[in-house]
Amino acid sequence: MKHLRYLNSFLLQYKWRLSIGVIFVIAQNYFRILVPPQFRKALDLASICLQDYKTIEDPEEKAILLRYISLTLWDYAWMVLLFAALMGFFMFLMRKTIIVVSRLIEYDLRKKIFGHYEELDGSFYNRTATGDLMSRITEDVSKVRMYLGPGLLYCINLVTLFILAVTSMYQVNPTLTLYALIPLPILSVSIYYVSSVINKRSTIIQRQLAKLNTIAQEVFSGIRILKSYNKEENFRQFFSDETDVYLENSMSLARVNAFFHPLMILLVSFSVLLVVIVGGQEVAKGNITHGNIAEFIIYVNMLTWPFTAIGWIVSIVQQAEASQARIMEFMNTKPTIVSTVTGALDVQGEVVFDHVHFTYVDSGVKALDDVSFKVKRGENLGIIGRTASGKSTIASLLLRMMDPQEGAILIDGKNIKDLNLSELRKSIGYVPQDSFLFSDTIANNVAFGEDTLEMDKVEFITGKAAVYQDILTLPEKFDTVIGERGVTLSGGQKQRIALSRALIKEPDIIILDDCLSAVDTTTEQTILGYLEEALSHKTSIIITHRIYKHLEFDKVIVLDGGKIIEAGTPDELIDQKGYFYEILTKQLLEESSSV
Ligand SMILES: Nc1ncnc2c1ncn2[C@@H]1O[C@H](COP(=O)(O)OP(=O)(O)OP(=O)(O)O)[C@@H](O)[C@H]1O
Ligand SMILES: [Mg+2]
Repeated sequence: MKHLRYLNSFLLQYKWRLSIGVIFVIAQNYFRILVPPQFRKALDLASICLQDYKTIEDPEEKAILLRYISLTLWDYAWMVLLFAALMGFFMFLMRKTIIVVSRLIEYDLRKKIFGHYEELDGSFYNRTATGDLMSRITEDVSKVRMYLGPGLLYCINLVTLFILAVTSMYQVNPTLTLYALIPLPILSVSIYYVSSVINKRSTIIQRQLAKLNTIAQEVFSGIRILKSYNKEENFRQFFSDETDVYLENSMSLARVNAFFHPLMILLVSFSVLLVVIVGGQEVAKGNITHGNIAEFIIYVNMLTWPFTAIGWIVSIVQQAEASQARIMEFMNTKPTIVSTVTGALDVQGEVVFDHVHFTYVDSGVKALDDVSFKVKRGENLGIIGRTASGKSTIASLLLRMMDPQEGAILIDGKNIKDLNLSELRKSIGYVPQDSFLFSDTIANNVAFGEDTLEMDKVEFITGKAAVYQDILTLPEKFDTVIGERGVTLSGGQKQRIALSRALIKEPDIIILDDCLSAVDTTTEQTILGYLEEALSHKTSIIITHRIYKHLEFDKVIVLDGGKIIEAGTPDELIDQKGYFYEILTKQLLEESSSV
């Protein structure tokens, strides 16, 4: 129960509602236990009156007695109906309070977990599968909710009903009470075992279902590749095999489930049998009446469900504990990138990397090895290098997605660790290499970093990023939904929308990570023309495989295996005749041959 203790603070928030809920549970059970005595009274009345009836000779007196019996029985019937109605009313209120509290806590918990997930840094996401994150925030939270709602409710219900019913039973006859209760703990234990088996099998089924979902999702998102490689049959077979496993699991669950109800009824019948046998003897001894037997049978049936629920509650609590442990594992993961300061930040734009070393902890790859460079305010730095040489890592470090193990990154002379993190990120416009866009309208994607959506700004900036005309051809223009829920854009279109998203922020520092790789040369020229003008007063870091004729770099660094192998102005690098010179000449050759 160690992990479930975490939920106490959530429960405490709703303590008043819960207390009222408990009162409703008590009221509901109070009216419930008023019902069996009515049956006893009715039966006793009927049996006494019928004895009298046999001794009476006068037909008129007989008729009067029958009228009396029928009227009094009606009174009892109305009482039963009234108590049932009151019980139902309080049952409604009880569910409305306690189950609603569990839904509210589920809502709070899910929001808290989501908020915490968002705080966690890149390295956490590197080592954690998205599916795992999703299942903890959905399935595990639902299991915890089962404990907070039905689990807690049935527990309170069981305790109150047990106290009230057993007190009433004991007042009638202690011996009979004892006999009637004997089989009930056996019922709880058996139900506990059966529900543990059910839970185990359900978990296996859920896991298998998740697997089927993953397969289906991969197949559908990669359907083009699948078709072009003629792999439909292989995947159909694979899916069918996994579905067979699912079927087998479901069947084994169905078998246990089929066992559940007969077992319950068997054990309850055993209780009833004892009541009838022992009760019969007590009636013979004159200790109780016939009506008491009927009353007891109703009590036993009444206690059946709560006793069944004990087994069920125990297994719900166990599952909730396991789920909460999984949730806590992530909740206890602390973000390593935290902002220690608050307040506004006025960025001028000087960026310095001072002997930065960075190793990806999870893969052990040393991505940056003693990297030092300086970009003055308003300067334009080109970062060039082979694939996997550490270029994107520089961008991630500057955005403080992770911190370097050695060395420092300074902006305007201050270590970025000592700057307000959100202000730092606000001042940087970043176009990542994989131009990720949300399943939302184009306008919202462009204005993503803005507080409000200003259409004229969106239109202006998409024009500058040379994607405005493309957007106008789409069915709903700027309101077109893209991604999974809407239209698919070309690689180049996505890159230009991602570029617009960074530029609209008017950032002080801009980082473009290979963001024109899917754009044709003519469009590239248009964009570079604007960038040259827009970036003239800004610090810009441009990561690229190509050397742009239309964008003059103030400085260039060339990376190889995480080390800077060349650095200087483009002219200096041409003179050095190294990597920069090599790709420049290669590019010029390609361009001249293609003209
Ligand atoms: N999230 C990560 N976890 C572990 N290792 C990583 C991660 N990202 C990158 N690496 C490794 O770090 C090294 C540098 O990667 P980086 O992405 O910085 O290269 P790059 O120069 O941007 O390459 P490209 O031109 O292909 O984009 C690579 O060896 C890569 O495998
Ligand atoms: Mg990269």
